[in-house]
Amino acid sequence: AVEFFGPKLLQGMSVLLTAGPTREAIDPVRYISNHSSGKMGFALAKAAADMGAKVTLVAGPVNLPTPNGVSRVNVESAQQMLDAVMPQVEQHQIFIGCAAVADYRIAEVAESKIKKSAEQMQLALVRNPDILASVASHANRPFTVGFAAETNDVEQYARGKLSRKKLDMIAANDVSNTNIGFNSDSNALTVFWSDGSTELPAVDKQTLAKQLLTLIANKITK
Ligand code: CTP
Ligand code: CA
Repeated sequence: AVEFFGPKLLQGMSVLLTAGPTREAIDPVRYISNHSSGKMGFALAKAAADMGAKVTLVAGPVNLPTPNGVSRVNVESAQQMLDAVMPQVEQHQIFIGCAAVADYRIAEVAESKIKKSAEQMQLALVRNPDILASVASHANRPFTVGFAAETNDVEQYARGKLSRKKLDMIAANDVSNTNIGFNSDSNALTVFWSDGSTELPAVDKQTLAKQLLTLIANKITK
């Protein structure tokens, strides 16, 4: 109830987020992508707006309504997501990379529909740019938070990403538990930073979003 009286925790702050999957075209009718409902990213955008922040949400193709007060930019591919994010970086104090960005794109997108012929075919793929790492290595960088979906060795991989991408914080979810995460309405996270960590146990994504943003706000103002 405190928030009705005192200033909201993210008042005067601006938050930039990525959410949802990206889609990488193979030809005019096909693509490769990742499982991602976008629910966690949209919950974070809503929570940030509720906590008083100005919010910009760069979203891949998802079927979700834009939360009230959130300014949304729709993109499809990882390259489009990068192009939408980078010009915004300096205007925001917090960046949260929640999108399930496709790690690879098709080397040469076919201009017309590929017809089936041989029993086997190969697609050549090339690495996509890392949006989160690009934000984190920007000269005038925001407080930068990543996500890590892991099936095993969660702490080791999450801490590896935290240091390799030079992040301030990383929120890891164990996707080997199929009841939570991905398309679910609830999720659990373990959050790591350079000299600490905390568990956010399974709860609905809207509550979890508020808890994660509270943690971020406390780290920034400390
Ligand atoms: N990410 C990104 N751009 C990419 C790949 C990932 O911004 N091209 C971000 C995701 O939004 C997430 C974080 O990086 O916040 C970690 O994504 P993840 O797929 O777990 O890590 P990767 O570095 O891609 O490593 P891997 O998939 O091999 O585990
Ligand atoms: Ca990846």
